[in-house]
Amino acid sequence: MKASAPAKIILFGEHAVVYKRHAVVTAINLRCYAEAKKSDEIRIYSPLGVTGLDFKVHPYVSYAIKRFSEVKPIDGVKIRIESDIPIASGLGSSSAVTVAVLKALDGEFDAGLSKDEIFELARKVELDVQGIGSGTDPFVATFGGTWLIPDRKPIKIGNVKLLVINTGESSITADMVRKVAELRGRYPKIVDGIFDTIDVIALESVEPLEKGDIKTLSELFFLNQCMLKAIGVSSKRIDELVDRLAELGVSAKITGAGGGGCVIGIGDDKSIERAKSVFGGILVEAGAEGVRFENESKV
Ligand code: MEV
Repeated sequence: MKASAPAKIILFGEHAVVYKRHAVVTAINLRCYAEAKKSDEIRIYSPLGVTGLDFKVHPYVSYAIKRFSEVKPIDGVKIRIESDIPIASGLGSSSAVTVAVLKALDGEFDAGLSKDEIFELARKVELDVQGIGSGTDPFVATFGGTWLIPDRKPIKIGNVKLLVINTGESSITADMVRKVAELRGRYPKIVDGIFDTIDVIALESVEPLEKGDIKTLSELFFLNQCMLKAIGVSSKRIDELVDRLAELGVSAKITGAGGGGCVIGIGDDKSIERAKSVFGGILVEAGAEGVRFENESKV
């Protein structure tokens, strides 16, 4: 059985959401594809290599198989993965692969899992691998759409163009979340104050997002990026990119854990086109569909 799940971008609120503040997240039109076929052994085929159950090379897929077999015991399975989503780039590739594999297993072994059950398993996998995380990434990979988290309030984004540019530096979520936790350990009042500010930014973004109010959203991107820089998750390359995009009229911020990975930019149509011609990147569609079975998978 074949299945796929979407990538995501966090529009506002990464890191603060780990500490129960608000975030706005949307699924985008890049997907990870998984195929599961019954077998008498476990084999995982992906761009990372061919292995058995291997918690080093394929941690998310291996834990997904392990967690699934606690619900429905299996003798063996062949899993094939193919993905449009760049790895370690802040776009939620780990959660997309986890959720796509769980759905493919669900179909192949007739487990009849609901989306809520798939999300719960994917959430466990996130914690198995990373030891820490808000559950935002597995949530949006499962349900798709655009959401205010943790309220699970759906948002309908107006006419907003979003440009995603990869810095090419890798972004390891668990490392960045731990780095922020250490800073918070040393300066709890300061870091919690920053999280409270990010919380307000996320909440204030909902109306302009729905109205497609680019001017307000640009200001909120700027403010959110300043807060992310303050908690140490920006990088020299991100700072330079954000500055150069600002010169072209595009307001940009980290999306996801930071330290590298992608930035997202917002601006009027002309500025976005100009920025794209200079820096490349992709114009993404927000609110993509969540996990689903695929007839014609790329796998
Ligand atoms: C990662 O995409 C977003 C973070 O807030 C971590 C999390 O929410 O689990 C950095």
